[in-house]
Amino acid sequence: RRLEKFVDELPDMPRLRGYGVAEGGRIVAGNLTIGMYDTTWKFHRDLPHTRVFAYGTSKEAATVPGPTIEAMQGVPTYVTWTNHLPARHFLPWDRTLAAASPGTGGVPTVVHLHGGVQHSTSDGHSLAWFTAGLASTGPHFSPPPYAYPNRQPPGNLWYHDHAMGLTRVNILAGLAGAYRVSSPAEEGPLNLPSGAALDRNLVLFDRDFRASDGSLFMNATGNNPDVHPQWQPEYFGGVVCVNGKAWPFLRVARRRYRFRILNASNARFFRLALSAGLRFVHVASDSVYLPAPVDTARFLLAPSEIADVVVDFASATSDTAVLTDDAPAPYPGDNNVETIAVMKFVIEADGRSSSEHDDDPSRVPARLMPQYPRPDPKEASLTRRITMYEYTKNGTDEPTHLYLNARAYTDPVTETPAEGSTELWDVINLTDDNHPLHVHLAVFAVLEQRSLRGLDKFKDCMVRRNDAGACGVERHLAGGRRHDAPRQERGWKNVFKVRPGAVTRLLVRFKPLAESRFDFDVTTGPGYVYHCHVSVLPAPTSSLLWDLVLLINLRFMPQILDHEDNEMMRPMKIVRSSI
Ligand code: C2O
Ligand code: CU
Repeated sequence: RRLEKFVDELPDMPRLRGYGVAEGGRIVAGNLTIGMYDTTWKFHRDLPHTRVFAYGTSKEAATVPGPTIEAMQGVPTYVTWTNHLPARHFLPWDRTLAAASPGTGGVPTVVHLHGGVQHSTSDGHSLAWFTAGLASTGPHFSPPPYAYPNRQPPGNLWYHDHAMGLTRVNILAGLAGAYRVSSPAEEGPLNLPSGAALDRNLVLFDRDFRASDGSLFMNATGNNPDVHPQWQPEYFGGVVCVNGKAWPFLRVARRRYRFRILNASNARFFRLALSAGLRFVHVASDSVYLPAPVDTARFLLAPSEIADVVVDFASATSDTAVLTDDAPAPYPGDNNVETIAVMKFVIEADGRSSSEHDDDPSRVPARLMPQYPRPDPKEASLTRRITMYEYTKNGTDEPTHLYLNARAYTDPVTETPAEGSTELWDVINLTDDNHPLHVHLAVFAVLEQRSLRGLDKFKDCMVRRNDAGACGVERHLAGGRRHDAPRQERGWKNVFKVRPGAVTRLLVRFKPLAESRFDFDVTTGPGYVYHCHVSVLPAPTSSLLWDLVLLINLRFMPQILDHEDNEMMRPMKIVRSSI
């Protein structure tokens, strides 16, 4: 039995104001308490209530995705994140999880504000996790509340679980939500579509449900069973949800709307397009506004990327428009893919529409937010090489583990940028897949992407020596094809799609965009990380060891993490600048 499409209306998630208004209308810091609850969510009219873990101000108010937090630039938001989750996880892991914290049990969680510029004690370090009632806490736990200064430029962020080794299942269970930083400088001057009805967050993810009881389905059988019985490198679901509804619809008028589209999937890339002759006008990417709008007919959105677009339904050639996706999964994969639906727009009757369009006071100005510094490679004080490896079982193509720089997450920190500095990162992707790279705290701009020639030879050498210089990376780049980043991805971002078989050169800025220094000490606390945003499961070497690894892992995190060898994540320590 297949679920009927376009029967549920697109919900707007509850909006929480991340600031307060004092007497006289003065805007002051905001305090929020947001819990993680074991509850249910209705994903589709014909599905029973599905068990989820959800963020909300109360169990009754908890939603999937979580509430949208509306912060104000320059006004701090303090959030006390509380864990009300049960002793065991409901996704495949419960057995081992229950064993993970004997005596107390619980589901370890910690929240990262993705794209946020905040002190590392509020950054949701993977080892800062905690269970219900703080019964157990990770080695880098820091007490609530988390402080988000919001001093960064207006833009689109999101928050999601970041607990070591559990990020994937916790996000899958429902722990993700949107976060906006707004500024009074946007409203009047930009005059983009605004207000709750016209400026909407769309949170996209794919899921699978069991037909029998509507429960979330996560395949627990590995696709390489003799090596990893329970490990699948990536999760793909057959049902596309927007704001927690399977293939929803939204009624719109013939006028402009703004959509802040987040890909919150674990692994699925979306290549989005609209029917009815509609196009996207990009005004911002993840984090910040573009200097000028960019018009596209379709675009690719990797996990954790955000596209902020304006769609003008006045130009629709019919009364309905479908948002579709035709990206291969995994990406780039095989390009012969069928187009799947994401959601439908029902464009309101003609009678009212033409006059409504005449009344549409919104515009997309030719210039958006010009005040950011232009990415300038001359500012870079040093160049780092970051190599992505995928190790395969001898004689097969089956991946067994993925590494950055041939190092595990727990290996000593090697990336130690100075605060206030700018660096060039040459990211060398030796795997077959595109990996969306995310760097905490920093923003970066892509300078160029070039394919490597003689890739097999280069890979062989790199696997043996892990030294791009000695393996002749420059020689392998000579004459390699250049790939231009799409125009909407050329500004400052916090995630970039790192193309396979190529070197991607990023200019990484370890200072705020509008200022030359951070106004808090970035050198203290547990530090930051950079990682691939396709959540991969850590792979044990046998199912027995699998249990053992998690058991030890969660009890004695620091000692055993070298077993958690599939995480493409590395620590990053910001050091005091010598000048
Ligand atoms: Cu979106 Cu380290 O995370
Ligand atoms: Cu990846």
